[in-house]
Amino acid sequence: MEVIIGKSHDELSKAAAQVIADVVNSKPDAVLGLATGSTPLALYKELIRMHTEEGLDFSHCTTFNLDEYVGLTPDHDQSYHYFMNENLFKHINIPPENIHIPSGTTQNYLAFCEWYEMRIEECDGIDIQVLGIGSDGHIAFNEPGSSLGSRTRIKTLAKQTIEDNARFFDKPEDVPIYAITMGVGTILEADTLILLANGESKAQAISDAIEGPVSSWCTASALQLHPDSLLYIDEAAAAKLKMLDYYQWIQDKKPGAPAGS
Ligand code: F6R
Repeated sequence: MEVIIGKSHDELSKAAAQVIADVVNSKPDAVLGLATGSTPLALYKELIRMHTEEGLDFSHCTTFNLDEYVGLTPDHDQSYHYFMNENLFKHINIPPENIHIPSGTTQNYLAFCEWYEMRIEECDGIDIQVLGIGSDGHIAFNEPGSSLGSRTRIKTLAKQTIEDNARFFDKPEDVPIYAITMGVGTILEADTLILLANGESKAQAISDAIEGPVSSWCTASALQLHPDSLLYIDEAAAAKLKMLDYYQWIQDKKPGAPAGS
């Protein structure tokens, strides 16, 4: 785990966008795993800027989104289909047929989940996966108690998540209760994981994810098992980390570190 702490979420998002751009530049047909929510908005803004101003080319990329609310059609303004189109896809040159987002309205969720996993495999897996973190420590919609080996499936959202997401809906009772989500096991198979977190509401989840035991209680703690994960955390979200000084020290000393460390 590489923990990168910074003052500004915007600056951290730009650094994370550069990591993604490096992957796309070195492998034009890269497979990108994407997240929704407020956390990756600045990252997507920067990718759009890189596309518009620097010609970052997504024309051979494939994308897989983490999750979607069950029951919301792609044109619902709170669906993750709508979010991705508005905040990224319509601004870059990704071919629509290369975009994969779980369906919130399929007639057969079981078959859809199997197909989604199979499509990821057919594309030789995800090169780099973007993640946010819920205030209850979830990644994608893998709520507390989700198996760390879980695959794409339907999940019942935790009350905390429903409350957190109520801000996006007209009425709290409009927030969907179920979601279709990649599993923790699916996520751990991506070559590189990038998790972003900002704001004090994420501080406990970040402390549990980085310094707590690996546990289904905080599914983001599964990142401790991954050989290549980068965590971009602003100071408010990092406030409860016990080893804060050490993570900062590592970043300060990075320029002089032997190659490969
Ligand atoms: C969304 C997702 C969720 C969010 C998390 C944080 O695709 O996978 O795990 O990343 O709920 O949401 P925000 O960024 O809105 O705080």
